[in-house]
Amino acid sequence: MANNDPFGLRSLDVEALRRRRGAKWMAHPAPFAAWVADMDFEVAPPIAEALHEVIDRHELGYPNWGGPYALSPAAKLFPARMAQRYGWDLDPDRVHDLIDVIQGVRAAIHHRSEPGDGVVLHLPAYHPFLDSIEPASRRLIGIGRTEDGFDYDDLEERLRHDSRARIWILCHPHNPLGHVFDLPELERIADIALRHGITVVSDEIHADLTMPGTTHIPFASLASEVAAHTITVTSASKAFNLAGLRWAVVHAGDRTFHDALDALPGHYLGAPNLMAVTAATAAWTRGDDWLGAVVGVIDENRTSLVDLLAEHLPEVRYRPPAATYLAWLDVSALDLGDDPAAVFRERGVELSAGHQFGRGGEGHVRMNLATSPSVLAEMVAAMAG
Ligand SMILES: Cc1ncc(COP(=O)(O)O)c(C=O)c1O
Repeated sequence: MANNDPFGLRSLDVEALRRRRGAKWMAHPAPFAAWVADMDFEVAPPIAEALHEVIDRHELGYPNWGGPYALSPAAKLFPARMAQRYGWDLDPDRVHDLIDVIQGVRAAIHHRSEPGDGVVLHLPAYHPFLDSIEPASRRLIGIGRTEDGFDYDDLEERLRHDSRARIWILCHPHNPLGHVFDLPELERIADIALRHGITVVSDEIHADLTMPGTTHIPFASLASEVAAHTITVTSASKAFNLAGLRWAVVHAGDRTFHDALDALPGHYLGAPNLMAVTAATAAWTRGDDWLGAVVGVIDENRTSLVDLLAEHLPEVRYRPPAATYLAWLDVSALDLGDDPAAVFRERGVELSAGHQFGRGGEGHVRMNLATSPSVLAEMVAAMAG
């Protein structure tokens, strides 16, 4: 491995990727996989070491974290991690383990709203959020886009006539747009939410994947009265590529949600997975060199995609994401019909179909950039047919 590529991020073997047994490369027959939000990179060495050590020591029994219902070591690390990376000084007594991020989002919706209540969501949206609203008998209050950004004036107008908005799912940074909400936009969201008594569920799972030159500001860090109306959910799983292991964490700034979690019978939401907690702990204590290298490659890929598209698919409109490794491509000018992703699948590349992200997703596809620059270049050439 070259010195400038200590983790082998630029030298992935596409045949080895095709032999991987996870959903990304196995679930679809296309020769290239750029759909689900998993990275192609090899596991960060400190995480691999920590997981091997658990196996080598035969430590797969019940862990000793200070009692069966004690906070996991990863959850205990969470406040220090947030303080160090984002200057967010959170209340460690409000932290709870979760099995995954969507569990926290759904628990918050169920606890803080009733059937028929409204849930505010920027559109297009990560589809499990959409699946958490209407199938749970809540009403979607979608925020559409204007040329300059999201249409908060329209939202305010609708909230004036709708007193039953209870929850705002804030995907921060935003999947699929790669948008990072800056301070003025976060302040506007906080102002609207507080005036209308809306609890904000801030999903910050992509925060560590904020690109150089942009800053992530945890929503609950804006002010103590904002924190008191916020439920923050996150995980090491996206930035460190651990999605299959299942562990996440919630900070319940909202006291009633914290009390409700505390009052649940132990293990009602499941118990944290030992391997996932081991991996997250290694990630947050010894994984930042790997993370820095990964962000470097994604940064390079998000920029080189501009040139690759100009060369192979010049009609596609694309703005590099400010965070995440997901590129949101407007392919409407290609006239590929109702399901452009199906056409790209025919051409050999599995992408995420835009329509599954709801209104604003038509004519778009989402492309995963967490791969080596050469695999990315091959994929874009294949997409051109
Ligand atoms: C914004 C966002 N939230 C949550 C998740 C999934 O998290 P989990 O698997 O912990 O539910 C993803 C996965 O891509 C995501 O993009």
